[in-house]
Formats: sequence, C-alpha cells, structure tokens
Amino acid sequence: MSPLDPATGYSTGALQAALRADIDSFIVMDIMREASALETSGRSVIHMEVGQPGTPAPRLARDAVARALECDTLGYTMALGRDDLRARISQHYHETYGVRVSPERVVVTAGSSAAFVLAFLACFDVGDRVLLPSPGYPCYRHILSALGQSSQLVQTGPANRWMPQPEDVGRQAGACGAKGLLIASPANPTGTMLEPERLAALVRVCGERGLWFISDEIYHGLTYGAAAQTALAYSDEAIVINSFSKYFSMTGWRIGWMVVPDRLVRVIERLAQNLYISPPAVSQVAALAAFDAGEELEANRAVYAANRAVLLDGLPRAGFGSIVPADGAFYLYADVSHLTDDSVALSRRILHETGVAVTPGVDFDAARGARFVRFSYARSTADMVEAVRRLTAWGRW
Ligand SMILES: Cc1ncc(COP(=O)(O)O)c(C=O)c1O
Repeated sequence: MSPLDPATGYSTGALQAALRADIDSFIVMDIMREASALETSGRSVIHMEVGQPGTPAPRLARDAVARALECDTLGYTMALGRDDLRARISQHYHETYGVRVSPERVVVTAGSSAAFVLAFLACFDVGDRVLLPSPGYPCYRHILSALGQSSQLVQTGPANRWMPQPEDVGRQAGACGAKGLLIASPANPTGTMLEPERLAALVRVCGERGLWFISDEIYHGLTYGAAAQTALAYSDEAIVINSFSKYFSMTGWRIGWMVVPDRLVRVIERLAQNLYISPPAVSQVAALAAFDAGEELEANRAVYAANRAVLLDGLPRAGFGSIVPADGAFYLYADVSHLTDDSVALSRRILHETGVAVTPGVDFDAARGARFVRFSYARSTADMVEAVRRLTAWGRW
C-alpha cells in the first residue's frame, strides 16, 4: 500500500481521474482565458474568439426575471420544463416553420449542451459510434467520448460548402456501423448551411439505414439570406436540439430545448430527473419572455449582418482571403495556409501582437484545422471595423 498523504489522509497516488474523463479541452475557452488575462493587464482586446453575443438577454426577459425574483419561489420545475414554456416552444415551430410539434415532445434543458448529454444517453449505448461532420463543434466528440461512445468524422470541404454529402454519410455509416448522425446547420465553425434538399436527403439516408438523426439548430434565426429549415419538417423521428444562447442572446442563462420522438420523452424525462432534476427556473422565466422580444432580437441580427459585410470586405484586404461566405451563425472560417501550418501559434501571435482574439481551427478539426482560423463576429460593428484595421496594419508589418 502506498504511504498516506498527510494533507488528505488518502494513500498517495491511489485516486486517479477515470480514463473516460481524459477528454480534450474546448480550446476556445482556453483562448478566451488568455485574452481575458491580457485585458486584465490593461491591453485592449477585441473578442472574436468566442461565439457569444455582446448583447445581454432581451429587455423583456430581464424585466420578467426582475418581477419573478420578487414574487416567485423559483424552485424546481418539472424535469421536462415548465408547461407554458414547452407550449410556447411548440408554437414557435408552427410560427417559424409551419410545422406542428406537440408540447409533450418538447424538453427544456440546461442549454443545448445538456440536451446533447440527454440525447446521447437516450439513443446510444457504450461503444456506439456517431457520425460527425468535420470540421465541427468539438464538444460533440468530447461528450461522446466521456460517455464511452465514439465518433466517426465525415470530412467536408469548401467545394461542398463544408456540409456532408448524403452518399458519403450512407457509405461511412455502412462501413463503421454508426448508430447516428449529428449535424449543425448553420454550422460552427464555418457558418455554412444545408440546402433544404440536402437536409431532406440526409434525414432520408438516416431513416433508411436506421440511424438517429440529431439536428443541432442552435444557429437558427441567425441567417443572412434564406431562412434555415428544421429537420422536423422532414421527419418526426429527428431529434432537434436548440438553445436560447445565440439568437436569443442568453448564453450564460444556460437554457435550451430539444424536440424528441414520442417514445423518447419518458426516457429523457427519467434521465433529466436524475441528472439535473430540472432546468434552471429563473432562466425559464426569461426564456418564455424572450419569445416576445422579436424586435430587439432582429436588431441584434441586423448588427451581425453588418459585421459580416465588414469582415467579408475587410478580411481579404488584411490577408485572410480564402473564406466561404457564410449563410448564418456569426462565424467565418478562413484558410490561413499561406501564413502558417500552426493555427494555434498564429492565433497566439495575432492575439499578442494585435489584441484581436481569434480561434485556431484545430478546435474544430484536429488535422486540417492547423491551417484555419475562425473569426466570430457577434460583437459590435465598431469592434469589427477596428479588428480589420488592426489586422490589416499587422499584415503589412
Ligand atoms: C454548434 C453549437 N452547438 C451547441 C453549442 C452549445 O451551446 P449552449 O450549451 O450554450 O446552448 C454551441 C456553442 O457555441 C455551438 O456552437
């Protein structure tokens, strides 16, 4: 037996973190920490690393919360969320997409992040494999891996607007025996979107092959041309995950939702009861009111549209020319292979030499991401103009 540690009373070295917990960090959060440290030391930093709006929750949401703090106990709610919020989300599907979704199929969650855990636990067993487009949001594969499940990447590229082809999904699913496909459209980090026909075809391929289709619709509402279509328009079997974080400008409130087929509702309810008891009560008050804040939210979107135009015009002049114009979200993914094959080092240099924080592509694509960086344009237009000015001056240096 190893000797006892005098500080803890446990035998030294006996307690180690489980192997399943050995997941990669979400690099953007690490960059955010570095950028904040620089800011605390007095440097001016333009935050283009993190995908979060610079605006607070809508005024109506904050007012509703202020009232609730005075007169509501804000205790636990039902594990599936407040009935009035579930009904309002159901109404949102009818208003936005013309799709009927019964409130019973809506599950309110602690951000979309909790919805992924619930969906993965409900749909996949230990050892099951899930197809994920690459590049993509890193936490999908990290969560799967922490749950003892695994991912199989489907490579995408600019020629296909960074979205998978249905035939590739079919072929890869057959080859690796995948149990599901998870896709975000508009996507992070590229901001590109599936055309409705390709979304329908992907849903169909999954249906034919018996794969769960999980649609991350967190960037719906943030589109700059055609509106995004929900996977629920093509199948009631799709699992749709969404959030109040992005369009509704409520990242820190940790509130989101999912829509699931009838037969999964009780499964997810039992998981939610045991894992989280209920989604945060105060955030549900805010979320309900946020649905009435259309004017404010559309004004936010108009700012993102202006930011996108500033960057699509200015970044090429600053030396970041190779970008697929994004249809949605608030990201641009730039090929920087003419500057580096180490996007982490480049992002650090850009941060320290210009005060512009960007995210290295390796967060989203461990292999090819070394030649890409992601710009997030969720802050003010003045910030974007200043970022272009700094990057242009830096590029000419
Ligand atoms: C594609 C995508 N899905 C999900 C999330 C998680 O968001 P939240 O847990 O705040 O809803 C993010 C966050 O950036 C994201 O980019």
